[in-house]
Amino acid sequence: MDAPREHIRVSGLEMRYGSRVIQSGLDFAVMRGDIFVIMGGSGCGKSTLLKHMIGLYEPASGEVLYNGTSYQRCDGEARAAMRQRWGITYQSGGLFSAMTLAENVALPLTQYTSLDPRSVRELVAYKLALVGLAGFEEYYPSEISGGMQKRAGLARAIALDPEILFFDEPSAGLDPVSSRLLDELILQMREALGVTVVIVTHELASIFAIASNSVYLDAETRTMLDTGDPRELLLSSPHAAVRRFLGRGAAPGVSS
Ligand SMILES: Nc1ncnc2c1ncn2[C@@H]1O[C@H](COP(=O)(O)OP(=O)(O)O)[C@@H](O)[C@H]1O
Ligand SMILES: [Mg+2]
Repeated sequence: MDAPREHIRVSGLEMRYGSRVIQSGLDFAVMRGDIFVIMGGSGCGKSTLLKHMIGLYEPASGEVLYNGTSYQRCDGEARAAMRQRWGITYQSGGLFSAMTLAENVALPLTQYTSLDPRSVRELVAYKLALVGLAGFEEYYPSEISGGMQKRAGLARAIALDPEILFFDEPSAGLDPVSSRLLDELILQMREALGVTVVIVTHELASIFAIASNSVYLDAETRTMLDTGDPRELLLSSPHAAVRRFLGRGAAPGVSS
């Protein structure tokens, strides 16, 4: 049987910090193979949504379903099994500074598999090569550039062959060239590994370069205004705020 096309569903989600509602009424689906962008202005709750999706926070109400199974209704063991199918990258790369790149990427492999050291070494080399870091095994994070650190973080996130990759502002702090390289790498990952990608970003260039689907969170009304392919939303969202957000700069391939 084919895997269902709908990979993730966010259903009736309300998110709060204490009594403060950050967003409510979130309902959308991420399809298998999507590069799904969570977008919206600063402070609207993008990172908060990502953290709810990866189970770091419990929803005030609602749930997040993976392949039709609610993460919130699972017990601890089932949740851990679901999390093992995800690769999560952190803003700074999230690498351990006292470990080499090879040791960083090997970490999930030694922790969650019983592979022998030689297989681990081979897999580490393969994952580093996939992100363009072949030969950098013995480098420490401080010895490479910010863009390379993020790619090494990505190599670690794909160590266990995840079904879903999560990114929060992956190009924050990168120059435009490294930022474009990272976008290309994300596209390649989707092709090479067949993953679904969920990514937080407010960078228009990134959104139009990689997104196949998206949700727009509005800070004022504290709810989502629209969901869909950002190119279509730019042209035909009924919400002016969404069109304004996506139309801030010249969108590649779209004339005004
Ligand atoms: N751990 C937290 N505790 C309380 N408030 C938080 C916490 N994290 C973020 N916030 C607040 O929640 C709102 C949404 O934050 P965030 O999800 O980080 O927004 P974004 O990623 O869209 O910029 C902001 O007003 C922020 O100050
Ligand atoms: Mg954020």
